Amino acid sequence: MKPETNLIMSIIGIVAIDQNLAIGKGGKLPWHYSADMKFFKETTLGNAVVMGRVARSLTRHTFVIGGAKIYESFQPHIDKWIVTEIPLVVAGADTFMPANFLEGFEMYELRQLDDGLRVKFYEREGSLPNSRRSTMYPKHHAG
Ligand SMILES: NC(=O)c1ccc[n+]([C@@H]2O[C@H](COP(=O)([O-])OP(=O)(O)OC[C@H]3O[C@@H](n4cnc5c(N)ncnc54)[C@H](OP(=O)(O)O)[C@@H]3O)[C@@H](O)[C@H]2O)c1
Repeated sequence: MKPETNLIMSIIGIVAIDQNLAIGKGGKLPWHYSADMKFFKETTLGNAVVMGRVARSLTRHTFVIGGAKIYESFQPHIDKWIVTEIPLVVAGADTFMPANFLEGFEMYELRQLDDGLRVKFYEREGSLPNSRRSTMYPKHHAG
């Protein structure tokens, strides 16, 4: 039987940013890191995602997966951010996260991916006691 905490739904923003907070260029992701794609799939699989005009039913966790306009629209409702730091400065990037998008959030987990990527997990300040944080991390629901 799954722990009860799995039933708690949260709205989670998931994003990859370069060192200047760039997220896109010419309508595409300006990098290809298979470690991050794998992490993204494992994390979001089986959950609802919100992107562009597509919003799936609100079950389990809901992941807001961008782009910039979508992140901006959902920012007030986002409980957690999962942020992959891309060790690049993308020349000519045209889409960025707002400088303050993590304001009011605190990091509670740091994960190292392959390809030298780091993922930081944030939640709203004071939202949970320390003891519950690990159980609130959205495990993927594959299989
Ligand atoms: N690095 C990352 O993690 C990441 C993640 C996702 C995307 N990206 C990048 O971000 C860039 C795209 O971002 P963007 O800001 O141009 O576009 P976007 O946020 O992806 O929005 C796409 C479209 O969704 C519709 N939309 C936006 N807000 C809406 C709302 N509140 N209600 C209904 N529809 C809404 C709009 O369609 P209409 O114009 O038809 O109204 C908009 O053009 C791309 O380069 C992409 O690769 C990066």
